[in-house]
Amino acid sequence: MLNSAVPNTDNLTPINISHIKIGVRSPCNIYCHKKTRVLIKHGTKLDKTNIEALRRMNNNASDVFVANDTLQYFRGALKPKEFVERDKERVFTEKNTGYTGLLKKTIKILNNIPSYCEVNQHDADTVIDMILEFINLNEPRVIISIINTPTVDEYLPRHSVNVGILSTLIATLKNGYKYNMRDVALAGLLHDCGKTIISPNILNQNRRLTRVEYEVVKQHAVNSGNILTTFSKEVSLIARGHHERLDGTGYPDNFFEHEILLESRILAIADTYTAMVSSRPFADAVSPFKALNELDELKGNVLDSDITDFLILEASEHLLNQKVLMSNGTIATIDTIDLNDLEYPSVKTINDETIKTSKEYHCISMF
Ligand SMILES: [Fe+2]
Repeated sequence: MLNSAVPNTDNLTPINISHIKIGVRSPCNIYCHKKTRVLIKHGTKLDKTNIEALRRMNNNASDVFVANDTLQYFRGALKPKEFVERDKERVFTEKNTGYTGLLKKTIKILNNIPSYCEVNQHDADTVIDMILEFINLNEPRVIISIINTPTVDEYLPRHSVNVGILSTLIATLKNGYKYNMRDVALAGLLHDCGKTIISPNILNQNRRLTRVEYEVVKQHAVNSGNILTTFSKEVSLIARGHHERLDGTGYPDNFFEHEILLESRILAIADTYTAMVSSRPFADAVSPFKALNELDELKGNVLDSDITDFLILEASEHLLNQKVLMSNGTIATIDTIDLNDLEYPSVKTINDETIKTSKEYHCISMF
């Protein structure tokens, strides 16, 4: 993907990446071998995966470049400690806005539930405003990337925010229905709030649950519905229904297709997708492509076909041209996505070869 902000190639110099440390944000754009692609954007938090990818790319030749005027960062002029200070500065200025602010406020809401058994309406209204603003301000592409944030820590609040955002995004983009966006956002954000009054010892088990334990976990949908009656009957029922399945085998009410609210069906799809692309105590994260493929297989019996197809089309479009980490450790760009084979899109490699992915050479995660 050509980037209009790429400097003239004469102004780019290969770098020694040994100064780069995990956990800091890149102080500038980092470009790859052909000097025409931004490999890592300015401000990206550098994790183990992308540092390893840089090292791999830098092994055989000097394939990693930065603009001359930022070269100082990689020559020891800016030590790792100073990277960290810059990172702190950035976090400080962003801490109450965007995704970070949403997460922080959601943690507060969820943490208060066990004590009061209700949600602070003012706090929840603030978060819903933030979700609606977040969707207005961000491209769907950004949202899909955020949804694909694998995490084990803070699983419940992150999952809650992700489902809140994705449910609202689906409802917003799918204009065919007249949804109450605030109801969808609120029910999406707090669909699992009933889990806060269930023992973490049961919720965080990484083994198969016993029948009794599973019954306890299933109770969370009822708990969520009860807690959300403070807001409205509609929000309560949407959240209560997020584990219902079209074939009547869901819970807590074993509703069939026509009995399940459309908003609950949106939540079910957003819940399933975001859960799959995140690391959980009992399962590793899968790529968005594998997750979309699974949604496709669940549609009709479990998930609403129409809404699932809609999300698959939207997500496929926004995943095109995204950088992905491949199973062999290289980085590629999504080239085409076959709707009949969602799990294995075609990618463009750094050598500009187009390759159809497969079980042996597949996408691990977004880069
Ligand atoms: Fe749930």
